[in-house]
Parts: sequence; C-alpha cells; structure tokens
Amino acid sequence: MGRHSKAVLTGAGIDRRDTGYYSTPEPVAEFFRRKLLSLNPAPKLVFDPCAGRGELLAPFQDCGARLCGFDIMDMQPGGFFEFERRDFLLAAAAAPDSNGLPDADIIVANPPYNCHEHDYLREHKKRFALAFGRGAALNLYSLFIHAIIRSAKPGCLIGLITFDSFLTARGHEELRRFIRRECRIHSLLLCPTDLFRDQGADVRTAILVLQKGPQGAQRIEVAGRPETTAGFRQVLRTDAFRTCAPEDVCLSSPRDRGEFVVEVPQAVRALFAMPRLGEKFPCKTGISTGNDRTYLSRERREGFSVPFYKNPGKRRFYTEPDAWLRDDYKTAAQNRKNFIIRNRPYIGRPGIACSSMGVAFGAAILPEDSAFGVNANLFPKEKNRWWLLAYLNSSLCNYLVRGVLLRSNMITAGYVARIPVPDMPAAVRQKLEQTAREAYEARPGAAELPGFIEKIDEAVFDACGMPDPDRDGIREFCAKIVERT
Ligand SMILES: C[S@@+](CC[C@H](N)C(=O)[O-])C[C@H]1O[C@@H](n2cnc3c(N)ncnc32)[C@H](O)[C@@H]1O
Repeated sequence: MGRHSKAVLTGAGIDRRDTGYYSTPEPVAEFFRRKLLSLNPAPKLVFDPCAGRGELLAPFQDCGARLCGFDIMDMQPGGFFEFERRDFLLAAAAAPDSNGLPDADIIVANPPYNCHEHDYLREHKKRFALAFGRGAALNLYSLFIHAIIRSAKPGCLIGLITFDSFLTARGHEELRRFIRRECRIHSLLLCPTDLFRDQGADVRTAILVLQKGPQGAQRIEVAGRPETTAGFRQVLRTDAFRTCAPEDVCLSSPRDRGEFVVEVPQAVRALFAMPRLGEKFPCKTGISTGNDRTYLSRERREGFSVPFYKNPGKRRFYTEPDAWLRDDYKTAAQNRKNFIIRNRPYIGRPGIACSSMGVAFGAAILPEDSAFGVNANLFPKEKNRWWLLAYLNSSLCNYLVRGVLLRSNMITAGYVARIPVPDMPAAVRQKLEQTAREAYEARPGAAELPGFIEKIDEAVFDACGMPDPDRDGIREFCAKIVERT
C-alpha cells in the first residue's frame, strides 16, 4: 500500500525510494535487543545484513558481542560496528564455504523495500533463482528473508521488521512454507500502519522473531495490528502479547495457501473447514478492456449503452454502473488482443459484483444485461442471490477477507472463491434476504449502512454460534479497517 510522495529524502539527502532506506524506530530496535538477549544472553556475534547507520545494532553495544553490518551504501555509520560495504544478497547466494558471511548468533534486519528493485532483480534473477529457488526473488524484502534464513546457522536467532505482504499474498506461499520448515517462530507481531509515516512511508509491516531450527510445540507470541504507534510502543514495552499454538498462526487446509493469521479467533478459524464460495457458486471475472478510455464512457451515450460494473468499492447492496461499455465490444474482442472477454456465457446474467480495490470488502447487485470487469462476480441461483448478498456485506465476511485471507493487494476472484460459507438455516437465509432487499431498495449511502449491516451481523453471528467477545472483536476490526488490516 503506497507511499505518499515521489521523492522522499532522509536527513542525509538520500532518496529513500531509491535505496529503500527507512530507519527502524528506536522502540522496535530496543524490543529486538530485549527479546533476542532474553533468548540468548551471551551472543558472540550480532549481524545486520542491511545495516544502514546501524539503528538495529546500536542497542547491542553493551552486550559483549562483536557487531557486524553490511550495506551497499556507506552511510558513515560511526564506527561502533564493523562495517563492510557489501551486497548481502550476492554474498548469501555464493557457496557457503566462500561467502565470507559473519558466523552470527543473532541476525537483525529491516530489509529494503523500494520501488526500483526490478532492474536489480532482473540482473541477478538467474543467480538468485539458483541459490534461493525461483519463487524467492519476487521482491527485495522477500529475497532478504529467504537469504537470511538460508545463511543462518542452526540455533541462530533472527529479528526482522519487514513489509508484511508475505503473510498472505499468494506469490509468497513458498516463503511462508520455507519460514515454517526452517525456523521456530518466537514472535509474530503486526506493526501499526503509521509506524514509518513520519519518514514518508505508508507501509504495513510486521515483526518476526525466528530461530533457525524446528518449531516443536512451543507457543508463539502474537499481536494483531494496533491502531497507533503509541499503542504499539506500550505493547512492546510491556511484552503485552498473547500466545498461541503454532497451528493457530496459519491456515492449514489444503484449500488454503498457508497464510499466516494473527489473533484470529478459534470460532473464525473453524469456518475454514466449511465449504467455500467458489465450491458453491460460480465465481467469475469478466472483461478487461486493455484501454478503458476507448471502450468505456462515464455517461451513457450513443454507442455506449451496456452498463459496466468493475468495482463496487464501498458501495454496497445497490450501485450505479461504474461506466458504460461500447455496444460493439464483441467486435473489439475479435480485433484487439488486449481486449479480453473471460467467461463469456456469464456476461449479461444477473449476479453479485464483489469489490476488488479498497480496503473494505463488500458487494452489490449485478443487474441482468450488464457486463463486468476483472473483479470477482458471483452467479448464484436467484433463490440464493439475496441472502448471499447480505452475507458478503456482513462484518464477518469483511473480516474473513481483510483480517484473514488477504491483508494486502487487490481482492481477486481467487480470494473471493475461498471465502468460507457457514451453514445458514432457512430461517436465517430468509432474514438475510429480507434485509438485503430492503437495503437494495433504500439505495443506501455509506452513512445509512450500519443499520442494515447490524441486522445482518446479528443473523450471521447467530448462525455461526460466534461467541460475544469475538463478535465485538470483528466489529471493532471493521470499524477501523484501514488501521487494523
Ligand atoms: C530499510 S533500510 C534499514 C536501515 C537500518 N538497518 C535500519 O534498520 O534502520 C534498508 C537498507 O538496506 C540497504 N540495502 C539495500 N540492498 C542491499 C543489499 N543487496 N545488500 C545490503 N544492503 C542493502 C539499503 O542501502 C538500506 O540502508
């Protein structure tokens, strides 16, 4: 989730976007010192493979260990650790007996996440694929995690603060499995979204404390995303973490992709044993125009009369079309290779359009004789359409999508198809249907939504037997969804 401005300079005049330079805030560095020294009170060597000015090494100055750091930039870190201007990834990709990496007992890192990683990754693609596997080189930060774990010796402790899309994004499934296979997880803490905001970055990050070696049955410290950095500091300072069993921090059904989940209640995790949307109803994407300007019009006008729905976003139950598609769009599909029509037989059928962009998840009626974009669209039989619309707009569903299945990125049909569908008795379906129809008729703006959502929530929570504290937790999550996702 993006950064605010184009050029973001550090105090030293370095463009953070070029270098991926974001200083770790002091309370996080301090947390790593306390946590890692509590696990190994007498390390001989502490290493930061992307040390910058040594923000993460500084708190270890008095622990008696040798401190070493690599970085591709020399930021004159000030001599309190042994600095080498060196590319850690290339070093870690070399043969273990000749890579010259320090024999660390503790590794700490805030790996770079920048916008200009593509050229670098392309240049070294073959080498990294050979050393770390093909899926590892998706981006810099995931490559760092991979390289750090691979190069760590057995028993080595690893403290990471990093971009957190690897927790749920599909492309990082292999990395998640690699972490679980190679490491014991001590802590998995989601950081607040404003943690790096004073440095111009709006990034979702997480803290991981790992130890190279098997997990066993030891419990894991977890913390969901706090709303603010002030709250987070308090959590870090007081070690106010919950703990959970290793099997509670991931989705383990073969239908899922090993997503890491944090503080997800047991009653919600149990729903992932239920059938999924895509198993019960057709879940389809439609048209990508390749060039919206040519094929879509904001207003209905001559030649553009096909209602086109592509992302209801915050609009729920009822929405006007997002645009109007050219009447001759089928000809365009024959003549232009960028104009793609998927699932042709479904175009024109009545259904439900699900949101794809934006943090909150929701859905609206897709009327008959309209076309749809690359968002997910569901095509249940008419008797199921309205209760399903209600369920898709429930707080539970919103939480299942943004608190469990996918914390970052666009919600594609693949994710929507994996939303669990709890068993709804006929009376509950009837109640949901009625509320969804009322909401549709009322054509609510965002401000009038809560009344309907509350009614729906009550019916859905009751049907799932959701305990009261979990209901409150889910409602709170949805009320602050941008901060909590
Ligand atoms: C997010 S900053 C972290 C700085 C500091 N360690 C901290 O925690 O505040 C990431 C650092 O990674 C460095 N870096 C980027 N690519 C690297 C590479 N291949 N090898 C070593 N360092 C790298 C950047 O120069 C930058 O200093």
